[in-house]
Amino acid sequence: MKILILGSGGREHALAWKLSQSKRVSALYCAPGNGGISQMATCVPIPLSEPARLVEFAKSEGIGLTVVGPDDALADGIVDLFVSAGLRIFGPPQAAARLESSKVFAKEFMQRHGIPTARSGHFTDSKEAKKFASQMSLPVVVKADGLALGKGVIIAQTHAEAEAAIVEIMEERKFGAAGNAVVIEEFLEGPECSIHALVDGTHYLLFPSAQDHKRALDGDQGLNTGGMGTYSPVPQVTPAVEQIIRTEVLDRFLSGIQKENIPYRGMLFPGLILTAAGPRVLEFNCRFGDPETQVLMARLDSDLLDLLEATIDGTLSLQTPHWKSGSAVCVIAASGGYPGSYAKGKRIDGLEKAGASAVVFHAGTQCESGAFHTSGGRVLGITAAGPTLKEARDTAYGALEHIHFEGMQFRRDIGARGLAS
Ligand code: AMP
Ligand code: GLY
Repeated sequence: MKILILGSGGREHALAWKLSQSKRVSALYCAPGNGGISQMATCVPIPLSEPARLVEFAKSEGIGLTVVGPDDALADGIVDLFVSAGLRIFGPPQAAARLESSKVFAKEFMQRHGIPTARSGHFTDSKEAKKFASQMSLPVVVKADGLALGKGVIIAQTHAEAEAAIVEIMEERKFGAAGNAVVIEEFLEGPECSIHALVDGTHYLLFPSAQDHKRALDGDQGLNTGGMGTYSPVPQVTPAVEQIIRTEVLDRFLSGIQKENIPYRGMLFPGLILTAAGPRVLEFNCRFGDPETQVLMARLDSDLLDLLEATIDGTLSLQTPHWKSGSAVCVIAASGGYPGSYAKGKRIDGLEKAGASAVVFHAGTQCESGAFHTSGGRVLGITAAGPTLKEARDTAYGALEHIHFEGMQFRRDIGARGLAS
């Protein structure tokens, strides 16, 4: 079968890497792809902002399955467009992807179905939002309703900061239409955890737990980023905690979408905080996480294509994928200055040496006549599996030592919390 992957990040490279191992995949394409992906798939220079051209390409090339990476393509309804053209595609349709693209919609869904989440209010009027925020205890969390590249969440330490965030989002429209409404919610304390489960409408299939490191600097300091590294599994997700996540989050999610006729088929990735009172859902993502996918694919010991197809066909209950025991770690090497402004076009050295012991997934890279250069904020995800978290971590950091590009930055404490627990 010919497969087309949509996106250009480390997540898409990890999906391409895993799908390239499937005996059932005859050819792999990626639009638009990146330097690393171009080594294992044919990159197609069509941007995701031109979905009609993607449909045309999939038809003319005889693509058997398209796999969507990023959230905005789902929110824009790319799945609906492919389905109406008679094409097979992995991901939820627009109506279901609203669970990620509108935080208000997601909050109301959670409240209707008893899914544990932070106490909150939501508002379309900035005056009312300010009044509500001023009555909340501190810190208080202010969130733009819509997609804002991970930047629409402000953790305000003072009421003045909360008010300023509401002004920026709702009055100054810093994130455009994403600021039509805001969610104001209580601050939750505890380790974060990324849960991934395939959902076929009537069943779900839970993947191993993972944990991201959102802040730019060691010790969770600095600005929020797309994610600086991950590890899997998360020791705090004990079998008992997993059981609570199943009954209080996933079972209720499934019965909720059935009651409301939400046509959810695809990956569901709830972001959780494990509070002292139990897991709480921060948000629903309707896609694979980045860089969670890198560690999950490093651990998956079954054919990913079987799982993606079973999700579309509603036959997930027949699938029992195998996972490598032990752990996997992914350390992101980013451009100096990220998540602020950064230079591009820096030559990357040492990839081959690093690749001898770890898998190096590319995000912001370009390949020209055999040489790789940086082209984005997050550049590489150095990923290793091992029998223990310590060994996986040592291998990933050992491989990273071979890699150089001007201004390269990375966190030195990816997975450290897992070792300490
Ligand atoms: P979200 O996009 O809702 O996942 O928020 C982005 C990040 O902000 C999360 O990964 C958390 O680190 C943080 N965050 C969001 N909501 C809360 C909350 N209620 N309490 C504490 N941290 C939060
Ligand atoms: N790593 C967080 C995300 O993909 O949203």
